[in-house]
Amino acid sequence: MSGYLWEKTGTATDEGAMRFMAGEDVVLDRELFVFDLRATAAHARGLGRRGFLSASDVGRIVSALDELSGLWAGGGFVLDGRYEDGHSAIESFLTERLGDAGKRVHLGRSRNDQVLAATRLYAVDALGRLVLLLRESAGAALERARDHAMDPMPGYTHLQRAVPSSVGLWMASFAESFCESAELCSLTRGWLNASPLGTAAGYGVNLDLDRGGVRDELGFGRLTINPMAAQAGRGKHEVQVVGAMWQAMQDVRRLAWDLSLFSTDEFGFVRMADTATTGSSIMPNKRNPDLAELLRGACATVGGCLAELQQAVSLPSGYHRDLQVTKPALVRAVRTTLDAVGLVPGVIGGTELRLGRMRAAIDASMMATDRAVELAAGGMAFRDAYREVGESLGSLGGIDPAESLRARVSAGACGDLMLDEIGARVAALC
Ligand code: ARG
Repeated sequence: MSGYLWEKTGTATDEGAMRFMAGEDVVLDRELFVFDLRATAAHARGLGRRGFLSASDVGRIVSALDELSGLWAGGGFVLDGRYEDGHSAIESFLTERLGDAGKRVHLGRSRNDQVLAATRLYAVDALGRLVLLLRESAGAALERARDHAMDPMPGYTHLQRAVPSSVGLWMASFAESFCESAELCSLTRGWLNASPLGTAAGYGVNLDLDRGGVRDELGFGRLTINPMAAQAGRGKHEVQVVGAMWQAMQDVRRLAWDLSLFSTDEFGFVRMADTATTGSSIMPNKRNPDLAELLRGACATVGGCLAELQQAVSLPSGYHRDLQVTKPALVRAVRTTLDAVGLVPGVIGGTELRLGRMRAAIDASMMATDRAVELAAGGMAFRDAYREVGESLGSLGGIDPAESLRARVSAGACGDLMLDEIGARVAALC
């Protein structure tokens, strides 16, 4: 690495220390690069509108940035250890191509607000993608809920048989949970959708920058007003973004848990598609639900990223290089979550439901709660009804799960799944 933006004659930072400080930053900046390019073009145009850059310099800078975007997309420009970070790479490309005009682009900007802008654009984009994937996942679960609305399966509490339930209820629970997590991601996206550009190093600059114009060009909903508050948002926002992703991953984890449990021979309620299972290297008889297990494990990864971020944000006001530590955790959480949730619709749609096994696992004792509620509805005090049924569990009579499901008419329950309402919430996601 050579030619630092900040290099002055007569000073030199130790190469080993430089390597430690750069860490994997430049590689992680590959994720932020397209957003940094967009923000740099918007900044240059903003400078032009206020007369701080000539129209011809703006034109040349913007077309060099376009060229760099093209090269980047086609693999003709590589972001690696030759640069300290993505920001330096952009400026050196512009300076190499344009000479003096390239050297003018950093007027009124610091890498501190530059990295904030790129990170926010990246997070807004990632959350937007996640909302779509969660919507698809919710849609896939809803479809299975509709197809099997009244197919009985046991309902468990404490993993003990409790009451008759339905595949419809089970699948609709995922539709609603994914929808809820998508709503949280959407809210989080709106919350951080503010433009930090023009706050420079965290104290503003002695130029009347067109902050509003830059905000509009980049599609941000509002400005971060106070430059110190903009800096203070680094890490704080990442925690919230990764927290929202972790919530979505909790839904994925629950699904993965259910599938791995229900696909055991002991339960035998589902059979995961061959495309979602793997064999054993030693036991020829095995098919393993590795995909479900790794989806479950992905939640741990995202939770680890969240913990890492929470450790990183304990700083006084102003920029501190510690903040760079927020980047690996954010990028890892984003990649893991998008990859994992992207697989969910296929897993939901491709899992075979073994309805006979589910039905057979409902035993007569599971009708007890229905019976107690029936007696109580007929006038007996519930506690007395509970005792009476509890004392005669052996003589509960025949099992009719279908009747039990039909009778469970409390809103949202098996007899009234309200799938259209859940569907309307899913359709409203954006
Ligand atoms: N890589 C740095 C980061 O992520 C960029 C900002 C550097 N700013 C500075 N003042 N050294 O924070």
